[in-house]
Amino acid sequence: MWITLSEYLKKINSDSSKYFEFNDRILEVTDKIIPLDFESIFNNGNKVLKFEIGFGNGESLIKLAEKYPDINYFGIDRKMDRVRTALCKLNKKNKIANLMISRLGADYIDQIIRQESFDEIIMNFPDPWPKKRHHKNRTINGDYLSVLHSVLKKDGIFRFASDHEEYSMEVFELLKRSKLFRNVYDTPFKNEVKNRIETQFEKHKTREGCKIFHIKFAKI
Ligand SMILES: C[S@@+](CC[C@H](N)C(=O)[O-])C[C@H]1O[C@@H](n2cnc3c(N)ncnc32)[C@H](O)[C@@H]1O
Repeated sequence: MWITLSEYLKKINSDSSKYFEFNDRILEVTDKIIPLDFESIFNNGNKVLKFEIGFGNGESLIKLAEKYPDINYFGIDRKMDRVRTALCKLNKKNKIANLMISRLGADYIDQIIRQESFDEIIMNFPDPWPKKRHHKNRTINGDYLSVLHSVLKKDGIFRFASDHEEYSMEVFELLKRSKLFRNVYDTPFKNEVKNRIETQFEKHKTREGCKIFHIKFAKI
């Protein structure tokens, strides 16, 4: 059932609000603060902003933020247990001033995020919904690419990684056909990316011997 953004935010915040007081790195997204103003949210002078959709346990996002303190990172995940796990990790660390996480689904970002906000959007191992009748649940489709395009800055990068070949191929074809992005690689995929910080899911899949498909496109 379709619900308004306001109803959606109330719903997802209702069972997570008790966590907001535990750590100032978790941002409660409400009607009052949208569209989000990242300059005042971070207030640290950093100019580059990267966005991860579906950070999972947050391990790789936290490592990225620690490795690159001059870049701001905003991560979302729609599942409360993932946000809670990331929060536990953050609570064991000193404040990471260039990182913010929110419990949020990707669905409403065109209403929550200003146009041309991000230098990079990262999607690591989004749920592939392998059964054909479930493909409609995949986050990436033609319409969603327009949303990603609108929230990226000029020349902004979209990175996608998955162990699911068919989904990766579909995303590559959608990107190529959209005419909104250009391939940064000279091949559809790379199976390895130098200096990459692996995600929890990626480590798991690599250990199982799965091939990983990395896609990198730039906004036209
Ligand atoms: C397979 S896990 C991968 C987690 C992490 N990126 C990794 O590579 O370890 C997919 C994650 O995406 C999140 N997710 C799925 N659909 C989402 C959506 N529409 N918006 C935000 N997060 C979503 C799930 O809650 C889950 O944490």
